[in-house]
Amino acid sequence: MNKPAVFVTRKIAPSATARLAEIAQVEVWPHEDPPPYTLLQERSGTADAIITLLTDKIDAHLIENAGKQLKIISQMAVGFDNIDVAAATRRGIAVGNTPGVLTETTADFTWALLMAAARRVVESDKEVRAGVWRSWGPDVLTGYDIYQSTLGIIGFGRIGQAVARRANGFDMRILYNDPDCGKVEAGLGAECASLDELLSQSDFVTLHVYYSKETHHMIGREQLQMMKPTAILINTARGPVVEPEALLWALSNGIIAGAALDVTEPEPILRSSPLLALPNIIITPHIASASKATRERMAQIAVDNVIAGLSGEPLPHCANPDVYR
Ligand code: GLV
Repeated sequence: MNKPAVFVTRKIAPSATARLAEIAQVEVWPHEDPPPYTLLQERSGTADAIITLLTDKIDAHLIENAGKQLKIISQMAVGFDNIDVAAATRRGIAVGNTPGVLTETTADFTWALLMAAARRVVESDKEVRAGVWRSWGPDVLTGYDIYQSTLGIIGFGRIGQAVARRANGFDMRILYNDPDCGKVEAGLGAECASLDELLSQSDFVTLHVYYSKETHHMIGREQLQMMKPTAILINTARGPVVEPEALLWALSNGIIAGAALDVTEPEPILRSSPLLALPNIIITPHIASASKATRERMAQIAVDNVIAGLSGEPLPHCANPDVYR
């Protein structure tokens, strides 16, 4: 009997690909850049399962024109806003994701950005490399204290809560805003706050919401204006949660002190983006979950989802359980 066909849109951990190869005919896109949309369309006409990354656009058009054999789209990420999940459900295609395993790694990186921005680590490093070692001076490269400051966490799911646990070690006041406000703060020392309260009282505001119509540009001029002029915004969620023009305005006009983004709108950020010219912003290329161990675990879960799906079982981590109703 022919083995089912699986298309993997990037090289993932070899041990994960090897497990897949035991039960399927596997084709791996060998390049660092994503496969073109037309190739995704082609493979959706022949593959039984596709392992995708968040840079692969799997829209309604592609899903509606996929072959009947396509039964599983297994995303190697916790977020899946690049996939039209409703269209997949309509077509009976199960969509998998990799929640849980990247929570702590992403929370660590959120803290790396927060601390680097607060204490101007990147700016200082750039100066030294440029041959500028300013003499120790009272005002040289001064930043903001983290300990005993107020941290505002918008989106208090797994990652938001993991960020809060780390904040306890810095003796911080922790505010959070979430649709489940009031239900989840037990044991974390976090207080539920309205968005306005959180923005106006926090020294650091960090975003951990899913991207959706509701969270699109949820941080714009009005919200930035509510923040303290000494505050720092951190985004490791999705770029379009923050309106880029508003952020540029806020950073250029002293409305807030700084920002650190691991995600941008668009991705990659345009080389002509004026944000890149500002000293008070740190930008990294969407690497919050990029520890070696976590990327291996994500690959294994993406493969677990495919193996289960190809065996006719529900995906262990399914983004559209409705598909089984
Ligand atoms: C990364 O952004 C993810 O959603 O896993």
